[in-house]
Amino acid sequence: MSSVADVSGIRINPSILAADFVNMQAELARIATADFVHVDVMDNHFVPNLTFGPQMVGRIQATSPIPLDVHLMITDPERWAPEYAELGAASVTFHLEAAADPVGLARRLREIGSRAGIAVKPATPADVLFDILDEVDQILVMTVEPGFGGQSFMPETMPKLRLLADEARRRGSSVWLQVDGGISASTIEQAAEAGADTFVAGSAVFGAGDPDAAIAGLRAAAAASVHRH
Ligand code: DX5
Ligand code: ZN
Repeated sequence: MSSVADVSGIRINPSILAADFVNMQAELARIATADFVHVDVMDNHFVPNLTFGPQMVGRIQATSPIPLDVHLMITDPERWAPEYAELGAASVTFHLEAAADPVGLARRLREIGSRAGIAVKPATPADVLFDILDEVDQILVMTVEPGFGGQSFMPETMPKLRLLADEARRRGSSVWLQVDGGISASTIEQAAEAGADTFVAGSAVFGAGDPDAAIAGLRAAAAASVHRH
């Protein structure tokens, strides 16, 4: 992890959904300053899109110098999520809306040794997460409808993020609050200001001429807003 991130407590996780899949090693080399690589697993069931599964993610894990932040947009996460933890992903995030036993699954992921994350779609309220807050290492507040990169950030998700940040602070929790979807130089500040500390960005990073410079720009913008709390 970059030393800048360690100091600021801000993490920038580029999503490889916006990368060139057949040049993955070269693409990973373009984001050397990233904190984690965000890997979007989609099953054409929980979301209307299809990406890759454990075999592909296992190869990325084996070759990536950057730890993996796996985002599972799949039904039946109890069946699949442990496999991603077992292959060595640093964090595995599943959707609350898809999980039959979210607490049990989070415990299983931690037991295997990965960080456990829980994600919520834009329409899912904050309070349903309060019961599981202490069982997870990160909460992912989707800032677009999951399924595709390149969509517009939904500012209406910010009050939910604020509620979660307030609740986490009240409990003295060290849970990371992640945002994903439409994060760019023009939207990252409002997310940081609302309480996010971990930022997924696909097109804003891989669509830039210099992805590492884009990461630095996002990091600086987020840090400036976080410090205004
Ligand atoms: C969307 C995915 C995101 C996506 C973000 O369902 O979960 O991680 O790759 O892409 P951008 O940053 O382009 O909105
Ligand atoms: Zn994602």
